[in-house]
Amino acid sequence: MNHKFDVAVIGGGPGGYPAAIKAAQLGKSVALIEAAELGGTCLNRGCIPSKALIACARAMHQITQAEEFGIHVENVSFDFEKMVKRKDRIVDKVRSGLTSLIAANKITLFKGFGKFADPRIIRIKGEQNVEIYAEKTIIATGSEPREISAFPFDRKRIHDSSSMLEIKTLPKKLIIVGGGIIGCEFASLYKEFGVEVIILEALERIISMECISVSSALHKAFTKRGIIIETNAFVQSIENMGDQVLVKLAGGKTYEADIALVATGRKLNTSGIGLENAGVHILENGLVEVNELMETSVPGIYAVGDIASKWWLAHVASHQGLVAGSNAAGKAMKMHYNAVPSVIFTNPEIGTVGYSLDEAIKKGFHASLGAFPFLALGKSQATYQTEGFAQIVLDKDTGQVLGAQVVGHDAATLVAEMGVVIANEMTLDCIIHTIHAHPTIAEAWLEAALVAAEEPLHLPPKKLKA
Ligand code: NAI
Repeated sequence: MNHKFDVAVIGGGPGGYPAAIKAAQLGKSVALIEAAELGGTCLNRGCIPSKALIACARAMHQITQAEEFGIHVENVSFDFEKMVKRKDRIVDKVRSGLTSLIAANKITLFKGFGKFADPRIIRIKGEQNVEIYAEKTIIATGSEPREISAFPFDRKRIHDSSSMLEIKTLPKKLIIVGGGIIGCEFASLYKEFGVEVIILEALERIISMECISVSSALHKAFTKRGIIIETNAFVQSIENMGDQVLVKLAGGKTYEADIALVATGRKLNTSGIGLENAGVHILENGLVEVNELMETSVPGIYAVGDIASKWWLAHVASHQGLVAGSNAAGKAMKMHYNAVPSVIFTNPEIGTVGYSLDEAIKKGFHASLGAFPFLALGKSQATYQTEGFAQIVLDKDTGQVLGAQVVGHDAATLVAEMGVVIANEMTLDCIIHTIHAHPTIAEAWLEAALVAAEEPLHLPPKKLKA
């Protein structure tokens, strides 16, 4: 066989390409197999394009606040098509950087769909049609929007999250089915552009994976911005009526809108890749079974990303990729999940890590909470970013920080500090004894820690027991 490699990686997304780079850095010959574009969903149809559009929405939002800063802005208008082109340019630029990075690491890129013929042989079909032999393989095939027959995606009026990022004209009215992370990020984005947005969520609250204080803060902020949220609303069907979509709820209620976005979860890309030929075991929940080395039931075959854990997050996939790439190259590394940050790019933004208060209590900790509102920070006042709060969950017996949640401006960046605290099992004193620069919004962590210690600095003591 002409094509022999130490390590093959199937899938060039945020799980696969770090795995390939890691194995190459450790001196292995590496093949990277990608059927579509390098960068996967995250770069091409997810995190990056959505954040490029969200950045436009943020700029719009700031302009609408100009009067607060004494700036008169008149006749504000925007060109959505230009924003979409900017988003495409950014994706192209990042992708070309990634392509160079792969080449610089002397990784052989195969463009096609990889399928195991047996545990060591992968057949590639597509732009390139070849068979390769690899001593070790890392599977990183990710996930895609889950299509349900009652919601037939035509990608003209009934969209999934990928096609929604490609629309060139804004609708007047948008219905979003599913108030999870994707649904809420899109709701926030399109509302900023003046679209009438309705979220229909089957459960009793939006972003139900987050704790109640975070989810109700977002609900309140969305309602204030005019987003209509209907919870306990199970959508049964969506129909394209020609110039409108008709959305039917269980119980008979109906809604009409120009377009609908279905954001009701994703499905794993584990079929068609020959896992049965390789003998890789799949668990009952559809995930590929892996150990802490990210190795599957077949020695020498690893799996990372959405297909390999309950954390469907690009940053988890990338860390798993480094672990699998390292192990495949003979350098032992273990995966841990003790401080996975979750970030949601709504307005207001959300960042959480570790346990919520409820989770900590359920786990048996003698836990308490220290919360501090952005409103009480000088920097928030100066920059007119007063919406939101930061809160710390504390183990009262040991002083260890168990979790942290932040809602508000730059929350996704702010939560990183608590990621370091929780991953390294630090105590509340570690935060209190760290000098936080003033004036910054990061001071909210110091203040929340002081509240948790029942020694508040910029909150009157009476608010403690509120
Ligand atoms: P999700 O699981 O977060 O939310 C789906 C929501 O749809 C749930 O709240 C569910 O109750 C609701 N739903 C399901 N069927 C329904 C029906 N018939 N009628 C009304 N509501 C219904 O899934 P989502 O938002 O599609 O995201 C998929 C994955 O992508 C998530 O695991 C998420 O972690 C990941 N992701 C992460 C991002 C981030 O970290 N910023 C951004 C985008 C996606």
